[in-house]
Amino acid sequence: MSPTEFRQFGHEVVDWIADYLAHPERYPVLPPCRPGDLTDELPASGPEQGEPMAAILKDFRDQIVPRNTQWNHPGFMAYFSITASGPGILGEMLAAALNPNGMVWKTSPAVVELEQVTLDWLRQWLGLPDKQFGIIFDTASVSSMHAIAAARERAAPEVRTEGGGQGLILYTSDQAHSSIEKGAIALGLGKNAVRLIGTDADFRMRTDLLTAAIDRDLAAGLRPFCVCATVGTTSTTSIDPVPAIADIAERYGLWLHVDAAYAGSAAIVPEFRHLLAGCERADSLTTNPHKWLFTPVDVSVLYTRHPEMLRRAFSLEREYLQTAADPRAMNYMDYGVPLGRRFRALKLWFVMRYYGHQGLAAIIRQQIGWAQELAAQIDAHPRFERMAPAPLSMVCFRLRGPDEPNKKLLEKINASGEFFLSNTVLRGKYSIRLAIGNMGTTRAHVQRAWQIIQESV
Ligand SMILES: Cc1ncc(COP(=O)(O)O)c(C=O)c1O
Repeated sequence: MSPTEFRQFGHEVVDWIADYLAHPERYPVLPPCRPGDLTDELPASGPEQGEPMAAILKDFRDQIVPRNTQWNHPGFMAYFSITASGPGILGEMLAAALNPNGMVWKTSPAVVELEQVTLDWLRQWLGLPDKQFGIIFDTASVSSMHAIAAARERAAPEVRTEGGGQGLILYTSDQAHSSIEKGAIALGLGKNAVRLIGTDADFRMRTDLLTAAIDRDLAAGLRPFCVCATVGTTSTTSIDPVPAIADIAERYGLWLHVDAAYAGSAAIVPEFRHLLAGCERADSLTTNPHKWLFTPVDVSVLYTRHPEMLRRAFSLEREYLQTAADPRAMNYMDYGVPLGRRFRALKLWFVMRYYGHQGLAAIIRQQIGWAQELAAQIDAHPRFERMAPAPLSMVCFRLRGPDEPNKKLLEKINASGEFFLSNTVLRGKYSIRLAIGNMGTTRAHVQRAWQIIQESV
């Protein structure tokens, strides 16, 4: 592609993005298509000869966009709502243009050092202690898997060479994200190595049950090695009692990992910093700027006080990747599975600089306020019940009575094209989740969602 052609279509693409971001609600938030529709419409084989860019962009607009679930739609309130903010998109575009691969320092000092700098800025905003090593992975699932690997390395270093690890036991709550179990599966510890500890009425890990489970496993000759607490669970955004769990981890010598994939960002708001209370004692913590820090997917951060454990778990010397032994030349390939690394810090740096700490905190604070307002409205309504505390920007509720009308209600709301909400099961009851987190969502959108919910009954 010649520079002239690139410039022409680059302008066209940026114009399209600007229009799209100005009016994402032009599209239904959930695309009205059936599985296989797009596949059937596209050619079964790739073109032998190149095609004009204009034709490719036309098909993007006509075929791809209408089949996309519009995560940037202000009515996207399912799962955890996310945002590709303007500065984040620009950072992503420029990262694609430079296309560096930050395997080691010399393959791109910019990738490596910007990652170190942005993660240290974020650490300060989160109120985490100085001595933290930060590394970016694609997702929280992968970040947590690395944390579990570091924990395993500390408890059972022989496993790296010999494999196995039978008898190692990991604890997490029955509300933890499935990625914790997946991490144990991927590392070969097995699903049976994971104890899902029961939770209290507010869906928080019960520390009495945690202690009892550890004691039972020790008595059986097993090797407890790690506990994963969650700050902001997926189903309800409940917050495990991290200070008490940290006490237990210390008493039994367990690695404490905190999964704050969604809720961690809220700790940049001074009055919500308490969310991470106790996390300064954690051995590792993950949070996803791509969830609630308005940075495009994907960017997940893993902090740890023990980078040497990650290094011991993953470092392998290869002659073709040798670098000068300058202590400031960080080689991230030594701290995890991936060798190749995208320039993910660039978009995060753009977002952090463009909005600033106070700007980002103000948006999160506002979103939490709207969720609190909605929670109060649901509480005041005789036909609805709230299913869990709503400490952050997500509200779980249901129509009083059986599950079936709730399923119908959710289907009706989602068929409106205006809103997309998701569901979970809480205390055995089908419940609806409404998550606020997109930068385009306003108080008016939240209130309109509440209106549609009531009208759809
Ligand atoms: C608490 C929590 N942890 C981990 C994850 C997994 O995140 P990722 O998609 O980045 O792997 C999620 C996803 O929603 C989550 O809510």
